[in-house]
Amino acid sequence: MSDDASLSYGELAAWYDAIYDARSKDYAGEAAGLLELVRSGGSQPRSLLDVACGTGRHLEVFAGHLDDVAGLDNSTEMVILAGERLGRDVTLHEGDLRSFDLGRTFDVVTCLFSSIGHVADDEELDAAVATMARHVGADGWLLIEPWLTPDRVDEGGRRDVVTAETQEGVVARVGSSHVDAGALVIEFGWAVASPAGVVTTQEHHRMPLFTQERYLEAVSRAGLVASWYDDLPALGDRRGLLVGRREG
Ligand SMILES: C[S@@+](CC[C@H](N)C(=O)[O-])C[C@H]1O[C@@H](n2cnc3c(N)ncnc32)[C@H](O)[C@@H]1O
Repeated sequence: MSDDASLSYGELAAWYDAIYDARSKDYAGEAAGLLELVRSGGSQPRSLLDVACGTGRHLEVFAGHLDDVAGLDNSTEMVILAGERLGRDVTLHEGDLRSFDLGRTFDVVTCLFSSIGHVADDEELDAAVATMARHVGADGWLLIEPWLTPDRVDEGGRRDVVTAETQEGVVARVGSSHVDAGALVIEFGWAVASPAGVVTTQEHHRMPLFTQERYLEAVSRAGLVASWYDDLPALGDRRGLLVGRREG
């Protein structure tokens, strides 16, 4: 890490799990709940692709239930960490969620923890949803945990701090967000203390606030039957779940 540069997910990947463990993110409960949703809809999925899989925490759970599980992320570092976690049972791909082509379909395609929010605009939203939809097989499901919609965002933004400890050292991440021209701008300041000393760095995201209707439209345009779930126990946050079904 270098001082005061704006870093990507990849460069901060080593600290990603520590931060979300400290936030008690329930990967196991979320993944199990999503499978339950699919099964309660009458499907018996055998294959699943998790797009923007990060360090593979959801995939780890999916792989315990399904035979044929794959993940994709555009960060080399994230894919490496996921590979270390998952071993050979899960096929991992480096690719961009707006344009990948794995040449096959899956019973379920997921894109979780608001990773879809990393598209820049409407055009990229449609491209990403269409790309994922092309990988959904007959009677299959597309499950996208959306980014915040305009009605769910705190106008004044939020400030928070997370601290965590790992074998490498201790980390603190302070965050501040604000709404700007239809997007939520998020800035994180990181301080990592290890035996080598202390390094500080920054992370910056600008994530568009699409409406629920716009998300649904993207799924319909991609040729799937679109619906939206709120208050799904599996996803405790306030973001809902965007669902596409390939029918017939
Ligand atoms: C908030 S993290 C979520 C990771 C994981 N799904 C989870 O639940 O922990 C967002 C992920 O999206 C990935 N990402 C961002 N932009 C991407 C893109 N254009 N294509 C593929 N992955 C992307 C990042 O590398 C990161 O792993």
